[in-house]
Amino acid sequence: MSSTYTPTPEDKFSFGLWTVGWEGVDVFGPASRAPLDPVESVHKLAELGAAAITFHDDDLLPDDATRQQTLDRYTKALADTGLRTEMVTTNLFSHPVFKEGGLTANNREVRRYATAKVLRNIDLAAELGAETFVMWGGREGAEHGASKNIHAALDRLRDSLDLVCDYVREQGYTMRFAIEPKPNEPRGDILLPTIGHAIAFINELQHPEMVGLNPEVGHEEMAGLNFAQGVAQALWHGKLFHIDLNGQHGPRFDQDLRFGAGNLRGAFWTVDTMLGAGHADHAYDGYVHFDYKPPRAEAVDGVWASAAACMRNYLILRDKVQAFRADPEVQQALEAAGVTELDQPTLAEGESLADLREASYDVTALAERSVAMEALDQLAMEHLLGVR
Ligand code: GCO
Ligand code: MN
Ligand code: MN
Repeated sequence: MSSTYTPTPEDKFSFGLWTVGWEGVDVFGPASRAPLDPVESVHKLAELGAAAITFHDDDLLPDDATRQQTLDRYTKALADTGLRTEMVTTNLFSHPVFKEGGLTANNREVRRYATAKVLRNIDLAAELGAETFVMWGGREGAEHGASKNIHAALDRLRDSLDLVCDYVREQGYTMRFAIEPKPNEPRGDILLPTIGHAIAFINELQHPEMVGLNPEVGHEEMAGLNFAQGVAQALWHGKLFHIDLNGQHGPRFDQDLRFGAGNLRGAFWTVDTMLGAGHADHAYDGYVHFDYKPPRAEAVDGVWASAAACMRNYLILRDKVQAFRADPEVQQALEAAGVTELDQPTLAEGESLADLREASYDVTALAERSVAMEALDQLAMEHLLGVR
């Protein structure tokens, strides 16, 4: 049975170098683990069954003196293992120069420096063949009401996206941008805090077709939101360009647990939504990317155990979701709950509003109808608990 849950490159699993490479530095203490050589991470992740890797510029290439040599070692490791770089992102949050923002810093010099850093990284992403470029604005925000003019900050963020889209078009690159929402941390309040805010923002851009989302489980759950529903809406808009899977226990600090830990039922519905929630043509077909942190308490063995567990949990949940959707009793329960009826437009073809207004409705009977939703949910619960 367990071999069913062995990841292969066809599963398109992908990891950030900064995930397994997290040394455990937190606000209360220094590193609890030694730095990992990116080349070792590539080999180890390939061995575990991942298909791709992602990184921030600074994860791989912290300084110019070692840049070319590190790039050569990294690309050799990719060639040796068959892993590829599917996404690249820019660190506009660690260096103190970004302490009050990168692309939306009040300070114009900082904004120009941040833009130059992004452009350089876009060239690298193109060189490595990455199709997605993530923009996470961890420092784009504020702790005080008056310290940041939100209107102006959104203007500058829009300008930045317009500039980088123009640049990608001019260079003839094919990559797309994916905005990653997060409500807070490290800033008190971050711009584009949720999937919904980011989708609305994209509509104001010059090239909205080039910009989508990279939503993260924990970030929506920190805001008390339902991640699967957010993902479903991103898919509905054609905006799910990438995804960050991890785990979270409700609204508290960003836990970045391994996928499946924390809100397990949420993870089940997330996988169901990624598979199209019963409609294959609604499915997500991109990389299944994990953005988690091996807990600080773990030594390096725990790093690899947790990376393997992210993939294994996804495969187990995929199996459970597929069994749920294929179960004839579930199909009957979906009918009984009227789920399929929602596919029918409210106004039938050729009907007018007058038809709808003039029809007679048995409101009492409608109010008393069975919705049978608990029975349906119980079936999902039993699939998840492994008793069906
Ligand atoms: C977080 C964020 C980051 C971003 C990453 C990409 O956990 O706060 O997810 O990890 O995903 O930095 O830019
Ligand atoms: Mn996170
Ligand atoms: Mn993330």
